Amino acid sequence: MSNPIQPVRGMNDILPDVRSVWAAVESAAEEIFEAYGYQRIRIPVMERTELFSRSIGETTDIVQKEMYTFEDRNGSSVTLRPEATAGIVRAGLSNGLFHNQQQKLWCSGPMFRHERPQKGRYRQFHQLNVEAIGFAGPEIDAELIVISARLWERLGLESPNLELNSLGTPEARSGYREALQHYFSASKDVLDAESLNRLERNPLRILDSKNPDLGPLITSAPELSDYLDDDSKTHFERVQQLLSDVNVSYRLNPRLVRGLDYYSRTVFEWVTDRLGAQSAVCSGGRYDGLVAQLGGRNTPAIGWALGIERVVELIEAERLQILERQPHAYLAMAGEQARRQGFGIAENLRARVPGVRLFMDCAGGSLKSQLRRADHSGAHLALILGEDELSADQLSVKALREDTPQSMQSLDGVVSELLRVRGESP
Ligand code: HAM
Repeated sequence: MSNPIQPVRGMNDILPDVRSVWAAVESAAEEIFEAYGYQRIRIPVMERTELFSRSIGETTDIVQKEMYTFEDRNGSSVTLRPEATAGIVRAGLSNGLFHNQQQKLWCSGPMFRHERPQKGRYRQFHQLNVEAIGFAGPEIDAELIVISARLWERLGLESPNLELNSLGTPEARSGYREALQHYFSASKDVLDAESLNRLERNPLRILDSKNPDLGPLITSAPELSDYLDDDSKTHFERVQQLLSDVNVSYRLNPRLVRGLDYYSRTVFEWVTDRLGAQSAVCSGGRYDGLVAQLGGRNTPAIGWALGIERVVELIEAERLQILERQPHAYLAMAGEQARRQGFGIAENLRARVPGVRLFMDCAGGSLKSQLRRADHSGAHLALILGEDELSADQLSVKALREDTPQSMQSLDGVVSELLRVRGESP
């Protein structure tokens, strides 16, 4: 028998066991995109290579190191798309979609980057993209960001945090570029090979370095906000106001520069600490110069893309954490009167011990079966309320994971016990 054929490294089969999570992400996104007036577009997975070198930028990692580029049978250089924004703009130009028109578009599908595979980073991965082309005002920036926030809510995700920055106009950025070159050139002996390489080509990318030795140097580097032009500043302030108006919280991150060259003004990333090294689940920004750069008229535009694999992994990680979050205490109640009073007692205890995970038995039955459920829940303590406890105005506290005797305690005593177990297991 011949050896089975191996898959290409970094390219995954997406098996039926994860189909429902994938479907949940895709259908929630589609519903939200359509509700905000975005229409689906489908574009080819392969484009002429120059589309990407002209848009993403000759000096970026993607173009220099990560593209799947080859000659087709006619000898033309073609590339498997590493992202979708350039293709969407190309499609708009090829089909006359931007003539005196604004477009709100979304698309979905596989992207290809020859990166070093690890958890959350693949060579074939899937993105959901939204792009708004022809809109200059800050409302569209805020709208697009709100769409992503609504998607996290819909998926029940808690952890992505929004980071925001403004890169200003290309002119403002070139002043900043010079300032950075000047600043980092004075410390060439500290810079690693990659940063030295970036110093001439793209010094902003040094700010993205993951090398901890460069941390202090990067922290003290000049900040882009000091070089922003007035229009970009006003635009960025309004984006922030609009987000605050609808309670979308964010952190300003002056070091957020993004790895693609086409950005201007607003850029953002939703990041999480639950996926190891791959922290960005969704990223994007304005690209006001791109349509003109690819041969169209001057047209403002903005968009974002999320990595479906990362969102799916985050959903799984958060679900796991929810499952692992065992209660600190479980309240069991014997008799009608105890059930009635227990409800209020549980609320009282929750209010007095913020963050405590106190589960109240809602299934009923004998005390014995309630205590069995308490044990199964993984709780540290069982709190018992029966006739004796009711008449003494106390609760019995039974340790389920330690060998200590059961005791009757006043509410104050129970509060101290809960504070203790909450402190032991955050
Ligand atoms: P990007 O930051 O290169 O931006 O990628 C967007 C998202 O795709 C990332 O936040 C991440 O979740 C996911 N992603 C990127 N690379 C990988 C990988 N190797 N494996 C798994 N997931 C990955 C763009 O692509 C821009 N086109 C976004 C945009 C749209 N800007 C404006 N419009």
